Amino acid sequence: MIEFALITSLSTLAAGVVLALALRRLPTVRLQLVGLALLAVGLPLAAVILGGLVMFHMHEDVKVLAVAAASASTALAAALLTGSRIAHRIRGLESAAEQLSSGALEVRAPTNPPRELAHLAETFNTMAANLEELFDARRQLVAWASHDLRTPVASIQAMLEAMQDGLASTEEYLPALRQQTRTLAMLVDDLFELARIDAGALKLELQDAQVPVLVSACVSGLEAEARARQVRLESHLEDALPEVRCAPEHVQRVLFNLLTNALRYTPSDGSVVVRAQRRASELEVSVEDSGVGLTGEAQQRMFERFWRGDAARTRAGGGAGLGLAIAQGFIEAQGGRIWAENRAEGGARFAFTLPIARRPAAVV
Ligand SMILES: Nc1ncnc2c1ncn2[C@@H]1O[C@H](COP(=O)(O)OP(=O)(O)OP(=O)(O)O)[C@@H](O)[C@H]1O
Ligand SMILES: [Mg+2]
Repeated sequence: MIEFALITSLSTLAAGVVLALALRRLPTVRLQLVGLALLAVGLPLAAVILGGLVMFHMHEDVKVLAVAAASASTALAAALLTGSRIAHRIRGLESAAEQLSSGALEVRAPTNPPRELAHLAETFNTMAANLEELFDARRQLVAWASHDLRTPVASIQAMLEAMQDGLASTEEYLPALRQQTRTLAMLVDDLFELARIDAGALKLELQDAQVPVLVSACVSGLEAEARARQVRLESHLEDALPEVRCAPEHVQRVLFNLLTNALRYTPSDGSVVVRAQRRASELEVSVEDSGVGLTGEAQQRMFERFWRGDAARTRAGGGAGLGLAIAQGFIEAQGGRIWAENRAEGGARFAFTLPIARRPAAVV
């Protein structure tokens, strides 16, 4: 009889080990835990019932207990095995999270099954990749900003030293000093504006405004520059345009930037035209020029911070490459869209939309 008990215990043990190994192959934590519970209950029960049936008539109680104990220990071992595997996978995720929190942005978690943990690891990896991209963009922004700040600062420093050493008179350098200080101040203002846009702290006070008033203020402000560049600057606005809901000062800054760009990239004898027309519930304002037009790269990247075309990068009067990024932030904060395209007849067309004001119905 002792042989029977031994055989039953050993086969229960073997069955338990095989089933526990099979459990590890189940794809989800839920299935693994359900399988484990079934194994823990079913295996000892089966062994006890089998042993009991055979030994019922032999009064071999101690052996029945031994078989039950052996099968219960197997179930326990199986539980520990499955539990340790899940714990090991969770530890992997935990260690990846710890490394990420201590600054290792390139760390990624292993995406092995079970499915729930693999899904969690994939989500974690997407988050880590986004963070890495964000930090890269920040680093690049700081590098470009400090480069662009350094140029006017170095120039101001050189002029001040030359004046101090008596190599140049104050009158000689005063206009250039003023110009460099203005460049510096504009760059600092732009960076501040971008930081506010990024932080979502740009709170615009919207009011109903007339686009023709905003356009004519900008156009007349740039007439002298257009004349100096020998570029025709005109506005063609639809009659009876409805009012728009916007922050007028910010719309003017966007228009000013688009017009400055258009004048900058249009050769003499060219033209720049501002148009405004109604489109369903929006008003579309556009600035068209007969200039150099947009390269493929410009069309993709010109709304990025500090991005400038090659021509703009090398020319002396080129800006910092922040104007369009700020314009996009301003227009989107007012519920509009901004985009750019090449014109069939040559040159570029920049356009933005603003929502039409919803005036309360007049009381009769
Ligand atoms: N009307 C245009 N025609 C051709 N290229 C343009 C035009 N407007 C913008 N671009 C391209 O887009 C780039 C980015 O323009 P953006 O206004 O952001 O910067 P910027 O004018 O160079 O500098 P900033 O506006 O900060 O003084 C320009 O450097 C230029 O290459
Ligand atoms: Mg610009």
